[in-house]
Amino acid sequence: MNNRQLFLRHLAQTSDAPLALEITHAEGMYMYQANGKRLLDLIAGISVCNMGHCHPAVVAAIQQQAGTYMHLLVYGELVQSPQVAYAHLLTQHLPAHLNSVFFTNSGAEATEGAMKLAKRHTGRTEIIGFTNAYHGSTQGALSLIGDESMRNAYRPLIPGIRHIAFNEVAALQHITERTAAVMAETVMGEAGIRKPTRAWLQALRQRCTDTGTLLILDENQCGLGRTGSLWAFEQYGITPDILTLGKALGGGMPLGAFVADRLIMNDLTHAPVLGHITTFGGHPVSCAAGLAGFEALLHADVIATIPAKEQLFHTLLQHPRIQEVRSAGLMMAVQLDDFPTNKKVIDYCIERGLLTDWFLFCADALRIAPPLIITENQIREACTLLLEALDNV
Ligand SMILES: Cc1ncc(COP(=O)(O)O)c(C=O)c1O
Repeated sequence: MNNRQLFLRHLAQTSDAPLALEITHAEGMYMYQANGKRLLDLIAGISVCNMGHCHPAVVAAIQQQAGTYMHLLVYGELVQSPQVAYAHLLTQHLPAHLNSVFFTNSGAEATEGAMKLAKRHTGRTEIIGFTNAYHGSTQGALSLIGDESMRNAYRPLIPGIRHIAFNEVAALQHITERTAAVMAETVMGEAGIRKPTRAWLQALRQRCTDTGTLLILDENQCGLGRTGSLWAFEQYGITPDILTLGKALGGGMPLGAFVADRLIMNDLTHAPVLGHITTFGGHPVSCAAGLAGFEALLHADVIATIPAKEQLFHTLLQHPRIQEVRSAGLMMAVQLDDFPTNKKVIDYCIERGLLTDWFLFCADALRIAPPLIITENQIREACTLLLEALDNV
């Protein structure tokens, strides 16, 4: 049996139609397949490898840390320099009250930790999420996500969770003194790239402050430079009480985090003690990789290049079959008529060397979320192929 057959036989599948492309190696903007074909990566592992695949500084940091120490003891017991250095650097680039980092293994785990922290800190039980939001696949995160078909298959879920409409002022009235937390993606990803208005996000912030509710912002997809500022919330003139991170946080290694004020975070240390624990969260190799990736992101000044790249995509992606292109920096959705059209375009592109996909809750839009290092020529190459696909499918 070849690798593809073994993959289908022995790896648990998440759908009945996996891409099942066999990748032998990846570097920069490209993945290389066993069949000798190269793929230009337009989705960065869903907003993960912001600095491209196998960035040399990240690879060196992994190798160095792997030879120094790997797992030592459950998270939180020992002083491990990769965790300390990364938490220190991250908090230097966050508002002053986001000064305490709890590292996790994934974005979903960051959601779980943030939900628990909000309940514990406020003594309240209600949590509010948004229609079409995505925060992960574990039971707590699943309870909070905003898609009924995904939630419904796994009931009963966590009680006390309500869903309201994103970017609607009237919906904010549902946030009351009973609400422990509201969790929102600053820019919605899987809903097909939906940006809130500045006025609405500020009103959400205000409503949370007025009711003593904690505002949790999820920047798994939109954080770490992708929208053209280090954090997406910077563009809205507000700050969250808790920030959740993942995806690009580990530089390509598994790493998530929830970040809050030390005074809030300390609630996890008592009554009960060890209120939130993890064996591998903040793995030293992941933290070393994430730190190297974060430093590379800052030093390469790549964030400053994003508005021009975003604009170039908009300029080039003109076609009668494109309804609109929604974007927040290099987090983009190309809105097509329907899923069959989108799927044909995606398949056409993959066949000819361009990797893209659709969104969980917006299957008729095509995803553009490349490594942030994409060049002007690569944007032109990608758009030429996308337009050619739209002419031919
Ligand atoms: C906005 C957002 N939050 C949380 C998650 C969950 O992250 P993970 O898949 O690492 O659990 C995702 C994953 O796609 C996401 O897009």
